Amino acid sequence: MCGIVGAVAQRDVVPILVEGLRRLEYRGYDSAGVAVIDGDAHLARTRSVGKVRDLEARLDGHMAGATGIAHTRWATHGRPATENAHPHICRKTVALVHNGIIENHEELRRAQTKLGFEFTSDTDTEVIVHEIYRHLADTHDLLEAVRRALPALRGAYALGVITSEAPGRLVAARRGCPLVVGLGIGEHFIASDVAALLPVTQRFIFLEEGDVADLTRERVTIYDASGQIVERPVKQSELSADAVARGEYRHYMLKEIYEQPRAITDTLTNRIGLHHVYDEAFGTGAAAIFDTIEAVQIVACGTSYHAGLIGRYWFEALAEIPCSVEVASEFRYRRPRLAPHTLFVTLSQSGETADTLAALAHAKTIGVEHTLAICNVPESALVRQSGLALLTQAGPEIGVASTKAFTTQLVALLLLVASLGRRGHLGGDGERRIVGLLRTLPVLTEQALSLDAAVQSWVPAFANKQHALFLGRGTQYPVAMEGALKLKEISYIHAEAYPAGELKHGPLALVDADMPVVAVAPGNELFEKLHSNLQEVRARGGELFVFADAKNGITADERTHVITVPPTDDLMAPVVYTVLLQLLAYHVAVSKGADIDQPRNLAKSVTVE
Ligand code: AGP
Repeated sequence: MCGIVGAVAQRDVVPILVEGLRRLEYRGYDSAGVAVIDGDAHLARTRSVGKVRDLEARLDGHMAGATGIAHTRWATHGRPATENAHPHICRKTVALVHNGIIENHEELRRAQTKLGFEFTSDTDTEVIVHEIYRHLADTHDLLEAVRRALPALRGAYALGVITSEAPGRLVAARRGCPLVVGLGIGEHFIASDVAALLPVTQRFIFLEEGDVADLTRERVTIYDASGQIVERPVKQSELSADAVARGEYRHYMLKEIYEQPRAITDTLTNRIGLHHVYDEAFGTGAAAIFDTIEAVQIVACGTSYHAGLIGRYWFEALAEIPCSVEVASEFRYRRPRLAPHTLFVTLSQSGETADTLAALAHAKTIGVEHTLAICNVPESALVRQSGLALLTQAGPEIGVASTKAFTTQLVALLLLVASLGRRGHLGGDGERRIVGLLRTLPVLTEQALSLDAAVQSWVPAFANKQHALFLGRGTQYPVAMEGALKLKEISYIHAEAYPAGELKHGPLALVDADMPVVAVAPGNELFEKLHSNLQEVRARGGELFVFADAKNGITADERTHVITVPPTDDLMAPVVYTVLLQLLAYHVAVSKGADIDQPRNLAKSVTVE
């Protein structure tokens, strides 16, 4: 989703802003722009549709200034076009960048048009810059103008604002969208996330809901939602500037797929003893809360939702705890009835997904007492707004297609199953078994990665296809869903997943020689059933691509392609088979020349509804 960078310094900030935008590219965008206050105290702006490198080519050293803001735009209101790109400027005086959506923009636009403001874009954002200008004309104080403008806005925003009236000043505000302040020496910054600013600082303040920040070279002053000056903690980031570098890999996605053994190891480190899971890993007071839990409700979106679906099998089969899983955008608008003593679990890589945050807020309003976030970003809103949290240690995930965040979410869910289950049916022995298996998982994941060349050999069979089916049973059904999502997301091939037993109830009608059917077939008690379903596909002339446990003994033939997977315990199989599906999607997308890390129309961090 849109990315914001801003800086107030003594040096020219354009290179800092452009590098920041490059580091935010992963969030997804379609146009970019930068505005600075130049040496003559005038606002200068450059915008372009396309990539940050296109913006850079336009800038080509023509613009410089010590105070500036920059933006990557992911279109919501108004098509991707130069005139809709940010920063937006009002009367050559105020420039603004915005992430979020202003819901009452039409109403404001009508009122401002009557006041004589001219609109040059179709965005919801432009009303904000006019509103701020209106108040600046009265107050001649940027901070005061922003503070007076904000109450008129309905919706979500992270903002950065500069004015030619106050060249050394940058004002920022957040409500519903993330924004961090970066602290330098004699220079200060804002950005949508820390990754953008790592080359210039490692000290950050994470703005809270309703905060307004006033930045000059000398100081940063933060006001809370009630207008009071507040001290927010300064956090030292442990990430280095190259922690988000691609290294020798062609794409971030491939790098992140290959990082999974390490990410899993890191997620287990300090969370497990010899035979058990440390309750403290979930936060202070977790043990006492877990003693009372009788049911689990999981809410998430996209890939994180798929992790939740797998978790449900584990909570119910292993821990014998009732578990429901729901897509956040549905949960938030239902009137759900949750059983007493339910643990409300949110799953999210970014921790900033608007729907998941809203579902969490909704859960609290209907009386949920105990909330737990499984999240990859420690300072995210989701972690801050949840009672308990288990942080996955996947490290920054840059590719829009989530990979290592998913497999580490599965690890986190198993830790939770072991911890809650120990208190009931699962007992100490069951917990010991889970912990023992988790220790083997990094090696199993390495083994899956070693099948990369075999997976690549399947690519020609997919590259020219329009559709694909993914089949699985049990926990492998959500794995198949995740495989289908990966393929459609980055290769733009239409892919659907079905529980294999459902084929005969409709989707079988689609099967023909042009519909590759991918099946995930670990060696479990459902294999025989799955095998029969695969025969149904074969009998209709379908071409099968099966990832199968060695012990299943599936043989390949002209229309049945098999990649043999080393025998894997069923509990670890979702991670192992997901890695293979990630590789398949990746290589197919590469063969199609797709934009792997920034697929069209998508954003990494979905901070709008
Ligand atoms: C995954 O490949 C997707 N890009 C997407 O479905 C993602 O998982 C979803 O938007 C949820 O994001 P979150 O985990 O950051 O909440």
